[in-house]
Amino acid sequence: MNSNTCRYRHSLRHWQPLLASRALGRKPIARTLAGQRLVLFRTQSGQAAAVAETCPHRRLSLAVGRVRGEELVCRYHGWSFDAAGAIRCPLMAGHGLQHQAFAVREAQGLIWVREAANLPPLPSWSSDGLVLAGMAFHTVPAPLELTLDNFTEVEHTSSIHQVFGFTEPAAIQHRLELEPAATRVWNSGPQKAFPPLFNGFIDNRPGDTFANDWITTFAPLLTIYDQTWTSPNGRRRRFWLKVVMFFVPLDDQTTQLTTLVYSPKVLPGRLHRWLAAPIIKAVTAHELNLDVWALAQLADLNTELNPRTLGPLDRVLLENRRRLRPGYLEP
Ligand code: FES
Ligand SMILES: [Fe+2]
Repeated sequence: MNSNTCRYRHSLRHWQPLLASRALGRKPIARTLAGQRLVLFRTQSGQAAAVAETCPHRRLSLAVGRVRGEELVCRYHGWSFDAAGAIRCPLMAGHGLQHQAFAVREAQGLIWVREAANLPPLPSWSSDGLVLAGMAFHTVPAPLELTLDNFTEVEHTSSIHQVFGFTEPAAIQHRLELEPAATRVWNSGPQKAFPPLFNGFIDNRPGDTFANDWITTFAPLLTIYDQTWTSPNGRRRRFWLKVVMFFVPLDDQTTQLTTLVYSPKVLPGRLHRWLAAPIIKAVTAHELNLDVWALAQLADLNTELNPRTLGPLDRVLLENRRRLRPGYLEP
């Protein structure tokens, strides 16, 4: 019997990038995904696996279990579970029991989890010849819809952000394109001054126009942002960013952002990897922390939108809500 009452439980039908591959060693890790408590573990042969956290025997947490060979062994009475949920128990042969297991894949440096039936392909995206500057994981104390709202409008970039964003909302040009399974938003306007730290290795300068062009898709929920800069004489700057952001519902009130940031190689050889990439990653993570801060200040976590209070840059929010419903809020 599945007792998961999380309003986002249907999202388990999509592959969800839950953690970095390198975070999972031999020690099991307990996590919540769409209201489902699960334990991830890596078998001796290196395969990543996930099963429901509660041992079906007498309910010990399998997070305190130990990996032995290809199985996770419960600490209480020694029942063991393989990656498919098959159970071995020392005193009960032919018990006919099966434990809930999840499908797990590793790709792009991430561990992806979903329910173990009718496996669709993993999401994929083009890096457009850029190199990965880093990946980041942020836990947002807000429901999925409110988190998505924040990351699909730019009005707040003038007030909340320090680096990425526009000088003032009134100066933003905005375009919205709608497809049955995607929303696409394009914004352009004057860029805030970049911190001097950045100016050493990127060619953006005060007076540049910043354009943020993004597409949101819903299976799983993901936004890909192309962030580019243009000089006052109309020349596209060499430096740009591609940000791939997954919105992973952990429970009714908590959302994880799984973010990958790509940029051109801006320093030669290993200097890029050792110096530029960590700075790009740190600045991006800092800006995302500001979003998390704003979302943590919401005084009401009701996910309803009041159309009368929505401005011209908010139209996409209603469109996203419509596309999110099947597959996240409904079966
Ligand atoms: S509670 Fe897990 S084996 Fe008994
Ligand atoms: Fe933001």
